Amino acid sequence: MSSTAPAGTNANAPRVLVVGSGAREHAILHALARSPAAPELLCAPGNPGIAALARLLPVSGDDVSGLVAAAVTERVDLVVVGPEAPLVAGLADALAQAGIACFGPTADGARLEGSKAFCKEVMEAAGVPSAAYRVVATVADGLAAIDAIQGGRYPAVIKADGLAAGKGVIIARSEDEARAALHELLVEHRFGTERVVVEEFLSGREVSLLAICDGVRALPLASAQDYKRILDGDRGPNTGGMGAYSPVPGIDERAAQALCETVHQPVMDELARRGIVFHGVLYAGLMLTDSGPRVLEFNARFGDPETQAILPRLRSDLLSLLRAAAPGGGGLDGVVLDWDERRAVTVVLASAGYPESSSSGDLIEGLDAAVAMGVAAAGDAVAVTHAGTATDELGRIVTAGGRVLSVTALGANLDAARAAAYAAAELITFPGRQMRRDIGAGVEGAA
Ligand code: AMP
Ligand code: GLY
Repeated sequence: MSSTAPAGTNANAPRVLVVGSGAREHAILHALARSPAAPELLCAPGNPGIAALARLLPVSGDDVSGLVAAAVTERVDLVVVGPEAPLVAGLADALAQAGIACFGPTADGARLEGSKAFCKEVMEAAGVPSAAYRVVATVADGLAAIDAIQGGRYPAVIKADGLAAGKGVIIARSEDEARAALHELLVEHRFGTERVVVEEFLSGREVSLLAICDGVRALPLASAQDYKRILDGDRGPNTGGMGAYSPVPGIDERAAQALCETVHQPVMDELARRGIVFHGVLYAGLMLTDSGPRVLEFNARFGDPETQAILPRLRSDLLSLLRAAAPGGGGLDGVVLDWDERRAVTVVLASAGYPESSSSGDLIEGLDAAVAMGVAAAGDAVAVTHAGTATDELGRIVTAGGRVLSVTALGANLDAARAAAYAAAELITFPGRQMRRDIGAGVEGAA
C-alpha cells in the first residue's frame, strides 16, 4: 500500500484526530493504536475509556469550526470522523479548505445518509437494486403510494427524509398505522422534515457491508450483522444497536467483493459523474431477499456497533488504509486486506430506561476484570469499548448515557466468540444494566 507518512522518526509520528465519543470511535482508536507507524492519537471529545489511548480535546463532535481550529492548532495529519452529523454539516469540506486530510465525505457525499430521497435517486441512477419507492409530502399521497407500490398490502415502510438517529423508519402493519405514521411525520413534523419516502416492504436477511472509498474505488470490509431492537428475539423498540457479529456466514471475502461490485462501486461511479468525490466509509444496509440483494439504506460513516466487531479482525494497518483513502493519499489500487480467521461477537451494555431514556451516574464495576480476562485468555481477544461513560468526582467510571459499553470477543467460531463475549460482559455490572442474550446465537449457516 502506498503511504504518505512523513519519513519516520518518532518525533514525526503521524498525528491522527478521531472525532466522536462512542464505542465505534474507541474501536477505531484501538485499531489505529496497533499501527506500526506508532501514530500520536487525539480524540474530540472522546470518553474516559478512550482517554487511555488518546489525548482528549475538549471540542464537541458537532462543533465544525472548533474541530477545524483544533486540527490546525495540533497540526494533525489526518482526521477520522466517526458520526454522521459533522459530515452532513460540512466538517470534511472545512478541513479540506484548511489543508487537512479527512477520512470522511464532504457534505455533498454525506447526503447519501442525510437525505433518504437523494439516496434513492442516486441508487436509481446507478442501477443499484433497492426497494420500490415514492417521495411524498402529504398523508393522502403517502397512502396512495402504498397502493401504487404494493397494491395496498401491508406491512409498508415509511421513512423520514433526514437524519433521525435510527428512529425515522416506521414499519406500518395496517392502513391505520400508516396513516398515523404519515401524520406524525408530515403534519406534526416529528423529525422536522417536509417529505417522507414510502417504500416497498422487503423480507430476508439483513447484512451490513461497509466499504472504504478513496473517491474512485470502493474496497469492502468484512460483513457484519447488527441487532437493532432492545430485546431478545428482535422484540421491543429500535435502538442505536445492541450488538453485532462479523463476518456473516455465507458472506465471505469473495461474496463481499461481489456485493461491493453491484452496490458500492456503482454508487461511487454515479457520485463521481455528479462531481462528488467520496472519501470515507460507504456503509450499505442490505436485505438479502429471495430475488437477490437490495439496499435498505446507505450511511456515510462506520457503523456502530458493527465497527466494534469488524475492526478487531482487521490484521492490515488501519492507519495506512485510511490515509490511502483520504484526499491526497495514494488511493486503494492494489490494496488487499488481511483478516483474522476468528469470528467476532460484540455485546452492547445499555443503561436502565434505554432507548426511551437513559440513566447516568451509576457506578460501573468489573471493567478491569473484563479487560484482564481478554489479556489472560489470548492477547487482545476481548476488547471493552466505552460509549456512555463518565468519571465521577472520585475518579470512578460511571454510566452517562443509553449505550454504555461494548464488549467484543474473538473466537474460533461464532459460538466460542459468543461465549467469550458474554463471559466478559457478565463481569461488568451496574444498576439497571440491559443486554441482549442472543447476539450471534442461532445464526443461520454458522459452523
Ligand atoms: P434503515 O434506517 O433505513 O436501515 O431502516 C431501519 C430498519 O428498518 C432496517 O434495518 C430494517 O430492519 C427496516 N427496514 C428498512 N427498510 C425496509 C424495507 N424496505 N423493508 C423491510 N424492512 C425495512
Ligand atoms: N448499526 C447501524 C448504524 O450504524 O447506523
